[in-house]
Amino acid sequence: MTDPKVTSGKHMSFWIDSVLPLSFSPLKENINTDVVIVGGGIAGISIAYCLEQAGKKVIVVEDGNIGSGETGRTSAHLVCALDDRYYELQRIYGSEQTKHIADSHKQAIDLIERICKKENIKCDFERVDGYLFLHPTDKDESIEKELKAAKNAGLEIEAVEVMPGIKDNSKSLKFLNQAQFHPMKYLKGLCEVLTARGVKIYTDTKADKIDHTGVVTKDGFRINSEYVVIATNTPVNNKYVMHLKQYAYRTYVIGARIKKGSVPKTLWWDTGDFSQNAEIPPYHYVRIQPFDNDYDLLICGGEDHAVGLVEDDKINEEDKYGLLEYWLRQRFEIIDIVYQWSGQVMEPFDSLGYIGRNPKDEKNIFIVTGDSGNGLTHATIAGILISDLINGKDNPWESIYDPSRFKLFSAGKTYFKELVGGMINYLKQKPKDPKSVELQSIRPGQGKIVELDGKKFGVYRDKQDQFHMVGAECTHMKCIIKWNNDEQSWDCPCHGSRFTTEGKVLNGPANDDLSYHADKF
Ligand SMILES: Cc1cc2nc3c(=O)[nH]c(=O)nc-3n(C[C@H](O)[C@H](O)[C@H](O)COP(=O)(O)OP(=O)(O)OC[C@H]3O[C@@H](n4cnc5c(N)ncnc54)[C@H](O)[C@@H]3O)c2cc1C
Ligand code: FES
Repeated sequence: MTDPKVTSGKHMSFWIDSVLPLSFSPLKENINTDVVIVGGGIAGISIAYCLEQAGKKVIVVEDGNIGSGETGRTSAHLVCALDDRYYELQRIYGSEQTKHIADSHKQAIDLIERICKKENIKCDFERVDGYLFLHPTDKDESIEKELKAAKNAGLEIEAVEVMPGIKDNSKSLKFLNQAQFHPMKYLKGLCEVLTARGVKIYTDTKADKIDHTGVVTKDGFRINSEYVVIATNTPVNNKYVMHLKQYAYRTYVIGARIKKGSVPKTLWWDTGDFSQNAEIPPYHYVRIQPFDNDYDLLICGGEDHAVGLVEDDKINEEDKYGLLEYWLRQRFEIIDIVYQWSGQVMEPFDSLGYIGRNPKDEKNIFIVTGDSGNGLTHATIAGILISDLINGKDNPWESIYDPSRFKLFSAGKTYFKELVGGMINYLKQKPKDPKSVELQSIRPGQGKIVELDGKKFGVYRDKQDQFHMVGAECTHMKCIIKWNNDEQSWDCPCHGSRFTTEGKVLNGPANDDLSYHADKF
């Protein structure tokens, strides 16, 4: 396993591999501020930037390095061509609100572009067009419906006969003026700007206790703050409400070398595989990234599955990369695969991020979550919106992104399948007695759940033949964790918490480590 301070799994993404670690000193004193932000991914850092611009005194605390969460594992399409389809958004939110939704994502891309220019951040930001094309299992009418709905929402979009760069002539739509960038170079640039202007960023600093007065870190230091913003991807301060409104998905990425300039810089996405028994049909997403003097990197993602329903998928996590490669080779001339990694996205049941005041809590505590596959723009929207809310400015997006909104009855299909499916999966495991799993049946480099003296443990056998045992009950709400053989982590099927082989939290909503016992055998 790679150092969890650097990235949250075994595999190293191209983004993390191509910049120096973004680390700062840990917090070692008590301190006062206007706003404390927990989480140093694109959400936390974008919010810090907007608040600093509005004149607030800001502190950011990050458990690992900056970008060590999902931002370092993204694919970095910057789009207002949203994953969940405009015709769906119109059905759930109505035409007028859908125009605001489209506008918010457009404004997010514009803001990133403006920041890069104004602050001279060299992060490979480029405007590119994006193409949505029909998956063979989908119906023509979904492209037609999307064209109409996206036009109605105010997007620049057109139906096209031929897509550039890709050997696929499925029915498609061109979304004009989308963008792409290198997310870690962007964060690096923002951190330099922020720290030069007095924003304090502390890494290797975990927020342990969080309330309306501020944060106490794991090392016992106190940050007193007028406002508290939780940007931990999935909120670690909200135990129940938000985790009943969204579901964790795992998604896979490969990076393939292609001859430099052989494919025009473009974004491509298919509409998803409707033959699979999934409420969100897994789709492919592809883009080009400059790599070195001779090659570009073709970055292709997909093969998603709900974390709690991985068994339904019947394909091992580590086999997903081969499927991506097969799909990619049918459409592009690639040389070889030089990167592979996976990551997690939170899918809100009503298709839109949750940004604003933490439900059922004090008014000065804010959250951003429910990123879905458009988390980079959602995070930037959070920068604008949370800064406005803290500064008492009206913003037309407030009610749309309000984390307290409840659209279950217009959007509930996904919710029931994934949430209930995850719980059933958990219950299916719970009564089973895994005593039969003998420790010696665990191969080096693998983990399994075993029962010892009536208690369940996750046991990992490392390559040196040492066993590492963690308590198997997730510290969020006690679901039984599962072994992720690809990223070599313990993942919780209920709401997406993840832990290292030594029980350290990699992803919330859990904020406490699992108990860890080494060499007990
Ligand atoms: C494979 C993949 C492809 C994607 N592709 C796209 C795409 O093309 N376009 C797009 O828009 N989005 C995409 N996304 C989604 C997007 O990358 C994410 O939504 C976004 O990066 C999330 O940013 P964040 O700041 O919310 O979370 P993170 O980057 O995860 O940051 C949260 C941080 O909080 C820290 N933290 C957690 N708990 C604590 C604590 N108690 N104390 C201190 N710090 C804490 C973590 O260490 C972490 O660094 C993709 C995601 C994946 C995984
Ligand atoms: S993430 Fe909620 S119980 Fe594990």
